[in-house]
Amino acid sequence: MIQVSPPDKYGFCSYGVSTDVVKSAAESASKVIAKINPQMPRALGDRFISMLKSMPHRKLQQFCCIDYDSEMSFVAHTKDGVKQNIVGLGSYHLNPATHRAEIAFMMADAWQGKGIGTYMMQALVKIAKSKKIKGFTAEVMRDNVAMIALMQKAGVEPKSTIVNGSYLFTMDF
Ligand SMILES: CC(C)(COP(=O)(O)OP(=O)(O)OC[C@H]1O[C@@H](n2cnc3c(N)ncnc32)[C@H](O)[C@@H]1OP(=O)(O)O)[C@@H](O)C(=O)NCCC(=O)NCCS
Repeated sequence: MIQVSPPDKYGFCSYGVSTDVVKSAAESASKVIAKINPQMPRALGDRFISMLKSMPHRKLQQFCCIDYDSEMSFVAHTKDGVKQNIVGLGSYHLNPATHRAEIAFMMADAWQGKGIGTYMMQALVKIAKSKKIKGFTAEVMRDNVAMIALMQKAGVEPKSTIVNGSYLFTMDF
């Protein structure tokens, strides 16, 4: 999950001010969720990302045949007549090697601090437990107070270690 600048007329977004880890992570990930941040400066150089131009069959399968045993996502949306706007996402993705799932959350700025993240986290914990998943992991920047607070409100005591300057949280159910 990354933040990018708004797209240009060709659909290219810039990774913004720093490409050190974000570019490599986005290029090696099988799925990238990008939040368009109007405050992110459009920086030049080898730092652009765009939506897929084609959808190979193998990739399409991932979207059409969702494996609910290893992936779960919630979205929060507003409703204005028939128009819906996604304002938040909470998901987990199982690592079959550890049988723990990595979690990812993102709420639009105007919808943060309203309890949506806490609601999604508690729902994800409940579903993961029912699927006999061992626990959750999350790598969180040390100054991300909102995400740290969210981890602590999950109803399961998280353990943390510091890896590469970030917290690596583990919650075992
Ligand atoms: C982290 C995030 C998903 C939390 O979602 P949320 O819907 O805002 O969470 P909630 O409203 O349920 O609040 C959870 C806790 O975070 C705190 N919090 C939420 N937004 C905050 C902010 N901007 N600053 C400080 N604390 C904040 C809340 O006060 C609450 O703690 P409390 O109940 O003890 O007061 C959301 O802030 C977000 O999208 N942040 C940007 C993306 C991100 O950092 N994702 C995680 C990457 S690891």
